[in-house]
Amino acid sequence: MEIQEDEKGYIVKLENGEEVKTKYVVICTKYPFVDFPGFYFLKMYQETSNVIVIDPKEELFEGMYINTESPTISLRVIDGKDKKLLAIAGFEHKTGAKIDLENSYNYLEKIAKKMYPNCEVKYRWNTEDCIPLDKIPYIGDFSNIMPHVYVATGYKKWGMTSSNIAANIIVDKIMEKENIYEEIFRATRLEPIKNREEVGNMIKESVHSLFLNKLNMPKEQIEQIENGQGGIVEVSGKKVGVYKNMQGEIFKVKPVCQHLGCELSWNNLDKTWDCPCHGSRYTYKGKLIYGPSVKDLETYE
Ligand SMILES: Cc1cc2nc3c(=O)[nH]c(=O)nc-3n(C[C@H](O)[C@H](O)[C@H](O)COP(=O)(O)OP(=O)(O)OC[C@H]3O[C@@H](n4cnc5c(N)ncnc54)[C@H](O)[C@@H]3O)c2cc1C
Ligand code: FES
Repeated sequence: MEIQEDEKGYIVKLENGEEVKTKYVVICTKYPFVDFPGFYFLKMYQETSNVIVIDPKEELFEGMYINTESPTISLRVIDGKDKKLLAIAGFEHKTGAKIDLENSYNYLEKIAKKMYPNCEVKYRWNTEDCIPLDKIPYIGDFSNIMPHVYVATGYKKWGMTSSNIAANIIVDKIMEKENIYEEIFRATRLEPIKNREEVGNMIKESVHSLFLNKLNMPKEQIEQIENGQGGIVEVSGKKVGVYKNMQGEIFKVKPVCQHLGCELSWNNLDKTWDCPCHGSRYTYKGKLIYGPSVKDLETYE
């Protein structure tokens, strides 16, 4: 939940109230949960990618493939228990973006049907990853003013490979050994915030979600939300995030992110509340799924 300095090193505070005293800390929680210092929320955003797994119902090709165009699509053969299955992944979007998500899986399913017309879709899911503004992971010292605290993040969807580099660099730093890759991935570098276009976009998004959107009262009332749908509505002059399940049961949250306070977007595909600023996600009941937030949403009766 929190890292505090101590005269001998650091105290890491856990959710259950326990504390861990340590000289070294490695923050590898995907998105760092410490905001100040570090300021990773100014130099990174999150993207959500979708994945489907199909049973091709015929003989499958061998190998793994990834395209070079956009959107990126990768094909991976999975050795299932009885048969080989195919994972088709990609079609990413910035987490929390106000776009129509309904087509995300359809797009992947169309690719599947084109290759294997009789295929059956067995699984669908999505996940997030951190994208640094200069597209190079942040590995090494977390901040110049927190000695012995290290970070490994911003893998840009290549964390299974880049985490091996991170492990080597961080072990060498703790052992006070030189590592020739340290400089390339230096997490305290300033280059990412020189990417004016991306920084401008992030600031614009944050200003909208932190201030401007909050000033606009939604026109929709709770009665207008249909079963199986969600959205932000006005209740007694207050903005309330509402989801109605298929039986008409209502779940209400305060649609404000517990990280730095941005207004959340309703994701009708996954029935989640997503943050357009840095990509925290919550269930419709307000339970935290992905950080940087470390807290659940406030809820209403
Ligand atoms: C569709 C897709 C395809 C991919 N394909 C590839 C590929 O082919 N090759 C490749 O190299 N990479 C690939 N990746 C990327 C790779 O999976 C990720 O980059 C990598 O898993 C990220 O690792 P991580 O350790 O940073 O985060 P995670 O694996 O998410 O681990 C973070 C851990 O921290 C925990 N945590 C979070 N917050 C806290 C907290 N506050 N306190 C304590 N613990 C916390 C979480 O529970 C989790 O266990 C792909 C990613 C996607 C989305
Ligand atoms: S994730 Fe940062 S404000 Fe929501």
